[in-house]
Order: sequence, then C-alpha cells, then structure tokens
Amino acid sequence: MKKVFIDTMGCQMNKSDTERMLGMLSHFDYEETKEPEQADLLMINTCSIRQLSEDKAFSAVGTWGKWKKEGKNIKIGFCGCVAQQKAQEIFKRAPYVDFVLGTHKIYSLPEIIKRINNGEKVCECTETNSTEDDLAKKYEIERVKGVNAWIPITEGCNNFCTYCIVPYTRGRERSRQPEIIIKEAQDALDAGFKEITLLGQNVDSYGKDFKDKNYRLAELLKDLNALEGKFRIRFVTSYPTDITDELIQTALELDKVCEYFHIPMQSGSTEVLKAMNRRYTREEYAEIVKKVREKIADVTITSDFIAGFPGETEEQFVETLTAIDEFELDYSNVAAYSPREKTVAARWVDKYIPEDVKNERFQRLNKKIQENCLKSNLKYVNREMEVLVENFYEHKGKMINTGKTRNFKTVHIPCDKDLTGEFVNVKITGAKTWYLKGEII
Ligand code: SAH
Ligand code: SF4
Ligand code: F3S
Repeated sequence: MKKVFIDTMGCQMNKSDTERMLGMLSHFDYEETKEPEQADLLMINTCSIRQLSEDKAFSAVGTWGKWKKEGKNIKIGFCGCVAQQKAQEIFKRAPYVDFVLGTHKIYSLPEIIKRINNGEKVCECTETNSTEDDLAKKYEIERVKGVNAWIPITEGCNNFCTYCIVPYTRGRERSRQPEIIIKEAQDALDAGFKEITLLGQNVDSYGKDFKDKNYRLAELLKDLNALEGKFRIRFVTSYPTDITDELIQTALELDKVCEYFHIPMQSGSTEVLKAMNRRYTREEYAEIVKKVREKIADVTITSDFIAGFPGETEEQFVETLTAIDEFELDYSNVAAYSPREKTVAARWVDKYIPEDVKNERFQRLNKKIQENCLKSNLKYVNREMEVLVENFYEHKGKMINTGKTRNFKTVHIPCDKDLTGEFVNVKITGAKTWYLKGEII
C-alpha cells in the first residue's frame, strides 16, 4: 500500500470532495496517512473564498516542493477551488506540482494518478456542468468511520452575489439524483453513521433543475426520513428567500430532521444587500426568521456576515449589529471582506473600506456574536436534551465526551466511558459562550 496525505482547507463541500478522493484512491492501493512526512502522494484541497485561504495553499505546497527538491520521491497534487480557478497558472507558480485538479472532475483522479506515474504533468480543470454521478457509481465511497456523513445534494451556484467566487469555482447549480443520494445515505447508515448532513451552496433550491417540478428538498427529506433506524438529518446552507412554507412544515413534521437552520444574512442593511446582489431586504429576512421560529420550537438559527463590504458606511454596519440582536441569531460566522478576482464588487476599488476600519468592524461583530451566543446558550440551562456524542478526549486529567444537541448546540459531558456515536440524554448544568455543560441522566 502507498500512502496519501490530503490537506483539506475549505468548506464542507471541499471536505466531502476529499472524502470522495480518498474513497477512490483506496481502490488503487493508497491508504490515508495523517503525517505528510510519510506520504508518497501529497494533495492539497484548496479554498479560494478569501485571498488569505489562497495564499495559505501556496505556502503549504511550497514545503512539499522543498522536500521534492531535496530528493524525496513524492508526487504533489493541487486540487479544489483555487485549482479550478487558476488551472495551468499553478504550474508557473509551483513548478514542482505534478497535477492540478479542479472541482468538476474529481472522478478522473485514478486516471490522473496513472498519468503522473508515467512522468506526465496533468491539468484537469475543464468545466463539465454535469454532476459526476455516472462516474461515481464506479467507485463506492469508503468513508473514514465516523458519526456524521456529509452528502452533497446540489453542486455549484447561480446566484452571483457580487463578492463571491463560488459560482466561478463550482460552476452552475445542478442537483444530484434522489436515488443516488438515498443510496449514499443508506450506505452511510449501514456503516454506522448516525447523522446525515445534506450539503449545497443553496440547499433549498434542490430540484429546481429537474423535469419533475414536484420533487424538491422537502420530498428528499421525506424519503430520507423514511430510512430505518435512529439517526438525524440536517441540511446546509439555506438561501433566505428559498425557504418555503412547505419546507418549514416538513422540517417540523419529520422526526429525524433537526431544529437547525443556517440562513446567512451577510448584512443587516438593505442597501448593502442590494449592492451584494442578495435578493431580499432586511425586513424580508426578518419575516423568514420569524416564520421559522414561530413554527419550530427551540430552533437554532445561524448566519454568516461580511464586515467592511465596499461602500459600507458606519450606519449600515451598525444595522448588521442590530440585526443580530433583533433576530436573536444564535451564532454567526464572520469574515472581513476580501476582494476576489472576476467578481463584480472587486472592481469597486474606490469604495474599498480601509483595512483598519474593516478589522475594527470585524472585531465589533465578533463581540456581538459572542454575546448573543452566550445569551442563546443560557436559555437551555436546566433543560433536558438529547446529545449525539462525536468525540471523547482527556482535558485537564478528566475524560470528556462532546457532542451536539438536535439544535446544534455543543455539549461537554464529563464521563469516563467513551460514548462516541451514541445518543445520550443529558441535563444541561451550565452554559459558556461556545458550549453547554451537561450531565447524563
Ligand atoms: N452559499 C452560501 C455561502 C457560501 S460562501 C450563502 O449564500 O450564504 C461562505 C461564506 O463566505 C459566505 O456566506 C460569506 O459570508 C463568506 N464570503 C464569501 N465571499 C467572501 C469574500 N469575498 N470576502 C469575505 N467573505 C466572503
Ligand atoms: Fe456565493 Fe452567493 Fe452563491 Fe452563496 S449564494 S455561494 S454567497 S454566490
Ligand atoms: Fe468551499 Fe472555499 Fe470552494 S468555501 S466552495 S472550498 S471557495
């Protein structure tokens, strides 16, 4: 067996691609190693959402390039979103790379490995705009054993928000066939997984491209919910205005679908949202959050925000802070705006916010998010909740199990027994900013 190391830098979709690549390679005598020094094949699965992530990718492969120069017999692959975007250019910047593989043809990996082993340099970055399901059927995914299985249901995005590179790195939106998704879920459950998370840049537009207009996310959830056994279902990410009443009702009615929605708002200001090409106002976003909360008890709603979008005034930024309070957002990811090649907003150079102002807004946003996170966690003290345990480790001489509630709260449970993969009922005994403490009952 040869050894492969993959450094995964991006989102869940990127992680899911890594999982697929490892699955395929396992059919070709490669096993995974977590130690780059021991690998025969080193791959980086890159993210280009911000300049920083792109820069990190080049510095990481630089180290491997040095090893190669020193005479180590290794092959190096540059994959993912930066690869899709830069293609041949990668070879100029990092000549020691053996292959560049974009996001559209990951199933050509076995072929690529054959070619590089014959001394070729390979670049596979053409856009296909189809899903790769036919090819996928050839290679069963061999997931590394775990609790949560990520399953992509849509690939790509048609929204073209003015700041975002994803439509350029992942292509147009396309939905995977339900039978393939259901089979993948069943295989994961058979392998002992306890949670299925459906992935898509825009998960609630699933099925928009099908001839059968009646099969959408709600229908897929119903089919998955009907699979046997005890397990949980989640889905991320939701575009605010694509969340239909039917979807909320379905999520409420299906016992395995958890009380959790990730609904990125990006900004609290309607004018900024317009400049971002998001298709909703502050008020429309508020309406959707209200609907979800009214229907689904204890639902956790999380969001993403960008600090310092070009032209954002102090007043508009403050609208983001007030949105977090007003809509009681339980947690949000925040990023300082980073101009990305090809995107519309990157051309508005004269409106760029100075770095120090952007960073200051980033800090203030983080502070607000932390406050709200604690407030949200405090609501659950003394409540009984079901936790699916994901990890077991030692902390300051004590053994701890950590896991998630149905509504995506992290709970730390002191207990000497490894309960990974089990559902346990706990009483919440305390709340911190980032987690709850619990005792088994
Ligand atoms: N499809 C999801 C987002 C996927 S990208 C949605 O529409 O909400 C993940 C997050 O990265 C985005 O929500 C956004 O907050 C952030 N992001 C995207 N492009 C960015 C950029 N140029 N600068 C800073 N953050 C960015
Ligand atoms: Fe990017 Fe917007 Fe598509 Fe999300 S919806 S992936 S932010 S273009
Ligand atoms: Fe994901 Fe980053 Fe690509 S967020 S889709 S890996 S640009």
